[in-house]
Amino acid sequence: MGKMILSGKGRRWLLKGHPWIYKDDVADGEGTPGDLVPIYAPEGEILGWGLYSAESKIALRMVTREEEQPNREFWLGRMRRAISARENLGMMNPEGACRLISGDAEGIPGLVVDRYAKTLVLQIGTQAADRMRDFFVEVLIEALPFEPTAVLERSDLSVRRFEGLEPRVELLSGVIDGPIEVREEGGLVYRVDVREGHKTGAYLDMSSNRVKAAALRPGGRVLDTFAYDGLFGIRAALAGAEEVLCLEQNAAACERILVNAELSGVADRVKVERVDCMKDLRKRAEAKELWDMIVVDPPAFARNKREKRGAERGYVELNRRAMLLAVPGGHVVSASCSHAIWASEFLGHLASAARVSHRDTMLEAFTGASPDHPVRLGLPETDYLKCAFMRVT
Ligand SMILES: C[S@@+](CC[C@H](N)C(=O)[O-])C[C@H]1O[C@@H](n2cnc3c(N)ncnc32)[C@H](O)[C@@H]1O
Repeated sequence: MGKMILSGKGRRWLLKGHPWIYKDDVADGEGTPGDLVPIYAPEGEILGWGLYSAESKIALRMVTREEEQPNREFWLGRMRRAISARENLGMMNPEGACRLISGDAEGIPGLVVDRYAKTLVLQIGTQAADRMRDFFVEVLIEALPFEPTAVLERSDLSVRRFEGLEPRVELLSGVIDGPIEVREEGGLVYRVDVREGHKTGAYLDMSSNRVKAAALRPGGRVLDTFAYDGLFGIRAALAGAEEVLCLEQNAAACERILVNAELSGVADRVKVERVDCMKDLRKRAEAKELWDMIVVDPPAFARNKREKRGAERGYVELNRRAMLLAVPGGHVVSASCSHAIWASEFLGHLASAARVSHRDTMLEAFTGASPDHPVRLGLPETDYLKCAFMRVT
């Protein structure tokens, strides 16, 4: 086992509450990539334990500020704490889906675990979590209130390259012989392609926002843009929308929308068009179409600070078009998952869109990700998802 000694700046940064230590703030030390190491102040006082990466700019991810070395009981406690939070949130319906472990936000750096019914899908993003994978899986299974039918590792994240890790997809146990069927409250039934789908198969971070949008009871026509598996639109149909049109460019996702609408019993009211939403929304706005609710949930326009300028233009123009499409009194539900754009900046872009569209727009609610994707206070990197619920007059 190695050890790391921080610089004075590193110590101050850590004591301010951020749990990541950058390479430049480590004054001295030794460790094997992926080690759990004790972390010391320059004067020799122990500051806690962290996971070491030899490749990343983030050299250390704090696990605990206690002196005692984390052992198996410690990790089991962390897993149990995460699972019991989902139980308390009512998210452990055995046929449903949720994020079980949310990585750094939950003090288990580098490990994300999503649950689709009884199938677990792991994503591993750091050297340490990579080394500890089998141990983490074993401890997680002990902490779970059910026996998983399959465990799949979907570590095909591009961020792994920052840790010197190759992409990896591996079935660790059980059998997965097709999409997983998930059933949620309110009659929503959908299929998840855990092997090929986006993220671990679905956008679980949006689940509470989909319920919230449906609770607006969009009775008439709903346009679900950047729809992926169509779950905003299908939830709206289940809530009584008469006509739902899902727009999406991914062919496999378009097929799943139709299957999901059928499984949820709303196929007669849900249609799909495979289009480029940027162009399609311009066309619809020019044609002066009117919709009762427009959902705008594009992929991240700004993945880093350099992309912020272009992203601002994209968000303003996209939301301008969406606002023009709203009937007076209709809703625009608009999201941004750009890590590099703060909530206040996104609200500024929406205000610009309202100004250039000449539509008076009221912000009725402004949320983040579902509560199974918690934001760790002191770690702003975990606060990435913004979702605005706006009434356009
Ligand atoms: C953030 S996801 C949407 C998630 C979805 N709203 C949900 O709740 O599951 C963004 C989606 O936009 C699609 N997409 C990206 N660029 C697009 C474009 N120009 N036109 C249409 N769809 C696009 C992606 O394939 C992806 O499915």
